[in-house]
Amino acid sequence: MGKVMAKTNLKEKKIISKASLEVVDDSAIKTTSYSDINLKKWKDYSHIKTDTLWEFPSRLKEGGHSNEYHGNYIPQIAQQVYERYTKKGDIVLDLFFGSGTSGIEAVNMGRRCIGVELKDDLAESVSEKFSAKQLVTDVNIICADSASELATEKIKARLEIMGSQKAQLLMLHPPYDDIIKFSDKKEDLSNCATTEEFYDLFEKVAKNGYDLLDKGRFACLIIGDKYANSQHIPLGFECMARMNKIGFITKAIIIKDMQGNERAKGKTANLWRYRALAGGFYIFKHEYVMIFQKL
Ligand SMILES: C[S@@+](CC[C@H](N)C(=O)[O-])C[C@H]1O[C@@H](n2cnc3c(N)ncnc32)[C@H](O)[C@@H]1O
Repeated sequence: MGKVMAKTNLKEKKIISKASLEVVDDSAIKTTSYSDINLKKWKDYSHIKTDTLWEFPSRLKEGGHSNEYHGNYIPQIAQQVYERYTKKGDIVLDLFFGSGTSGIEAVNMGRRCIGVELKDDLAESVSEKFSAKQLVTDVNIICADSASELATEKIKARLEIMGSQKAQLLMLHPPYDDIIKFSDKKEDLSNCATTEEFYDLFEKVAKNGYDLLDKGRFACLIIGDKYANSQHIPLGFECMARMNKIGFITKAIIIKDMQGNERAKGKTANLWRYRALAGGFYIFKHEYVMIFQKL
C-alpha cells in the first residue's frame, strides 16, 4: 500500500479530529492511520455502525464464542470496534479478559490480543479455547491484577515478544461494581467495599492501559449503571470522567440495547416490573459502549 499522506481539504479538517488527520491515500485506497477501512469504498461498509444506538437482537454464538461466562460482552461489540479502530495484525489489550471474547474475536479478525485476568482458574481454562500456535503468535493470556505494576511489567514483556512497544487498542469491560461478584479476591473490582473504591481501582487499571497504548489510538469501555439505596448510580459516566482525568478524550457514548443479549432475565421480568412501579425507578435495558482516544 502506498504511504502518500493525503492533503486533507478544509471541509474534512472540520470534521476529522487532529489526531486522526493522518490519512493514507493512493489512487485506489484511502484509510485512516488506525483502520483498514477503505474510505474510497465507504459505501461497501454498511455493516459498520456509525450511529450511537446499537441494537443486536441476539448474541453471536458462532466463531468460537460460547455463553458460559456470566458477564461476558457480546462479540458483535468487538467486531464493530476492531474494524473501526484497528488494522490487521494490531494488538488489542484487554485488562478484564474474563472468558476471552476479545481474544477470540481478535483471532477471527486477524488481530492479536493480550488479555489480563485476575482469576487464575479462568485464565487457565480460557487458554484452552486457543490452539498452542495461537497462544504463541496471536493471543497472550496473563493472570494478574491489572491495577498492579507486576501486570504492567508482564504486558511489556509480552509486547516485546510480539514485536511492539505498545498496544493499538485498549478494551475495558470491568465488573459493573458489585452487580456480579466475580471472586473474593481483594484486588477484584467487583469486590470493593464502596463504589468510590471501585472508581479508584478502575482509574488505576485504566491508567495502566493508557500508558501501554500507542498515541492516537483508541480505548473502548463497556459498562452499565446500577441502582443502590433507591437511587441510580451512574457507573458509566463516573468511569468516563476517570478516563478523561487520565488523559483520554471522549469520542462517543453509544447506548447499547441489552435486550435479547442477557441471560435468564425473562424469568424475573414481572418481579422487576413490580419493583420498578413500587420504587419509582426504571428497568435497565441498555449499557454503554464508550469510545476514547489517546492524543
Ligand atoms: C465483566 S467481566 C469481563 C468479561 C469479558 N469481557 C468477556 O467477554 O468474557 C470482568 C472480569 O474482570 C476480572 N477482574 C476483576 N478485577 C480484576 C483485576 N483487578 N485485574 C484483572 N481482572 C479483573 C473478573 O474476574 C472478570 O472476569
